[in-house]
Amino acid sequence: MAFPVNRMRRLRATESLRRMVRETSLDPAGFILPLFACPGEGVKREIGAMPGNYQMSIDMLVAECAEVESLGIGGVILFGIPEKKDEMASGAYDDQGIVQRAVRAIKRECSKLVVATDVCNCEYTSHGHCGKIVDGDVDNDATLEWLARSAVSHARAGADIVAPSDMMDGRVAAIRRALDDAGFAKTPILAYAAKFASVFYGPFREAAESAPQFGDRRSYQMDPANAREAMREIELDIEEGADMVMVKPAMPYLDLIRMARDRFDLPIAAYQVSGEFSMIVAAAERGWLDRERAMMESLTSIRRAGAGIILTYFAKDAARVLG
Ligand code: PBG
Repeated sequence: MAFPVNRMRRLRATESLRRMVRETSLDPAGFILPLFACPGEGVKREIGAMPGNYQMSIDMLVAECAEVESLGIGGVILFGIPEKKDEMASGAYDDQGIVQRAVRAIKRECSKLVVATDVCNCEYTSHGHCGKIVDGDVDNDATLEWLARSAVSHARAGADIVAPSDMMDGRVAAIRRALDDAGFAKTPILAYAAKFASVFYGPFREAAESAPQFGDRRSYQMDPANAREAMREIELDIEEGADMVMVKPAMPYLDLIRMARDRFDLPIAAYQVSGEFSMIVAAAERGWLDRERAMMESLTSIRRAGAGIILTYFAKDAARVLG
C-alpha cells in the first residue's frame, strides 16, 4: 500500500498536527547547567570562547542558581577554579575548597535545585592532568585516593550527586566505598563512563584553566573510534556501583547514546560539551545558523538518541524557549 494511499505529508500539514505526533520532547527538568566557581567576591568573568558563560565567585553563583531554579532546570554541575594549584591537587579534596564552599552556599539558598559536582583533579593540579604523576604518567591507583577524598568532601558539603570525570579505572568502586564508609550511602554517583579524548573540550579548558601542561589525555580518556569499548566502560561503571552513566561529548557520539540506552536500564546522561556549544554560537554570530533553532535541534537529537539527562550550556536559553 504505497503512494498514493500513503502520504506522509498529511500529518505534517499544520503545527497542531505536528505537535500531536511529535515523538520526542524536551523538559528542563532533565537539564543540568555546568557552572564555574572562582575565588573572590562580585566576580563574573565571561569565558572568551563560551559567550554567555562565566567564571563566577560564590556570591554571584548563588544568584545564578536562584535563576536556574526558577526556570525549572533540573540541576547544575559545579567546576572549581582554585586559588592555587599544586602537584597534589590539594584544592580538590579540601573541605574549604572552592567547590565545597560553593555547594554549601548554593544549597542554603536553592533547596530544590539538584547540585552535582564534577569530581576530577585537572583543575587543581599544577600540571593540568587528571591525577597523580608518577614517572611521567598519570598513576591510576594513587589517583583513586584523591578522587575518593574529593567525592566525600563534596558529599559532606551537601552535594546531591557526585560525578567523577577523570576516567581512572576503578574510581566508581573507590568512591562508592569511601562514601559509604563516611556515612553517605545515599549520595548517588553519576559516572562519566564513556568519556572520549575529544577536541571539543577546547573552550572548557580555558574556562576551567585545566589544559594539560605536557602531553594529552589519551592514556586515560577514550579513543573516539571505539564503540564496543565504550559499552565495556559503561558496564564496568555499573558493576562498580554507578547510579547513572554519561556519554561525553554528545552530538558526535549519538550512536553510543542509543547503544547504551538499548542495553542498560539506568538513567543515561549526555554532555553537550563546550565545543559543541561554541560551534553553534560562533556560526550564529556569523549569521550562518539560526542560534535558537540549532540549539533546540541539537538538544532534541541528543534526547531522541536516548539521553534522559542533558548537561548543556544552553540549559537556561532552552528552558526559556520551552517555558
Ligand atoms: C574534567 C572535565 C573536562 C570536561 C568536563 N570535565 C575537561 C577535560 O576532560 O579535559 C569538559 C567539558 C566541556 O568541554 O564542556 N576532566
